Amino acid sequence: MTNTAMLAIGINPGFGNTKIVVNNGAGDEKSIVFPSIVAKAQRQVPGALEQIQTIQIKDESFWVGEDALIGSPRSEINKARLKDDYFIPALVRAGLEWLEVPREPSVAVSGLPASWADELDTATRLGELLRIAAAHTFSGSKIRIVSEPLGVLYSQVLDARGARVRPELAKSRVLIVDIGHYTVNAVVVNNLRPEPAMSFSLDLGTSTVLARIGQLLFASYEMDLTLFQIDQAVRNKGLLVSGEFLPLPPKAELVLADAGMKIVAKLTELLRGGGAIEKVLIGGGGAEMESLAQPIVDKYRQAIVVPNPQLSVATGFARLARYSINKGGQ
Ligand SMILES: Nc1ncnc2c1ncn2[C@@H]1O[C@H](COP(=O)(O)OP(=O)(O)OP(=O)(O)O)[C@@H](O)[C@H]1O
Ligand SMILES: [Mg+2]
Repeated sequence: MTNTAMLAIGINPGFGNTKIVVNNGAGDEKSIVFPSIVAKAQRQVPGALEQIQTIQIKDESFWVGEDALIGSPRSEINKARLKDDYFIPALVRAGLEWLEVPREPSVAVSGLPASWADELDTATRLGELLRIAAAHTFSGSKIRIVSEPLGVLYSQVLDARGARVRPELAKSRVLIVDIGHYTVNAVVVNNLRPEPAMSFSLDLGTSTVLARIGQLLFASYEMDLTLFQIDQAVRNKGLLVSGEFLPLPPKAELVLADAGMKIVAKLTELLRGGGAIEKVLIGGGGAEMESLAQPIVDKYRQAIVVPNPQLSVATGFARLARYSINKGGQ
């Protein structure tokens, strides 16, 4: 197989959702997003029309993503997820299987939150977990691990063929904000060079916002929902219960705007005295929530929410992998 025919894979196993983008070199990108939830597979009901797909890692079987909600699911929201030999591998294996990625050597880029990204042993461990997930796909080549918010930038300065685009953005001093489920990651990049002193992970992600909206839903409708169900309710701007649509309580918008303002306040504090920012790119799933992203856009007039923000980190990773294949590296 020639190098350029190799698949380029971007892997972003977030605390809330796993995002994977596969780039085939002809400008096509396939992607998948699912909750980062894993449960040990249980015995399936004989005769069921649909069986739940099990994901095998070493000697254990798992249900992953929404399928895991049927079992005893767990999500791992701290560094312990990297110690576990099964959790991240199950997420990544599931995504690759669902995307029907062939078991052939590929070039992969994955990432860590900004505050861990320069820890060599943490990055090495993530690489090891990806190899447990799919030895055929990842063993032959180097896996690059970069700081997650950089993916948002790479999704904008590289196209789907891995070619450099938007030179004006590449030449600017850019603040990148990635609003995730648990963390908001931010970096400042000047001329495509990340500034080491300007890299932050803040625990201001959407999960606290969702929990507060959950309390509002409980107060209005006496419904006790999981974070996953509250997330669905926010996306649909309400709940469908026995055929009746129950709208989100109006206060939910205020909760979102308030969380957005908290992010702005923290960023302002961290960037104080750090020099001028020319552009701001906002990505991550949290950027899909308009009322949450709006205070950041209002504060920095040069700010934009990138297209498909939730997928932007994994898209940028896949494009960086494609760029390195084009350059003849692996
Ligand atoms: N279409 C959408 N509409 C509304 N909210 C959305 C949408 N898509 C994603 N979100 C929000 O984005 C959040 C997750 O974003 P994302 O998938 O980027 O997080 P993550 O990368 O898993 O978390 P972290 O970066 O902390 O590891 C969800 O919890 C949800 O609240
Ligand atoms: Mg994320």
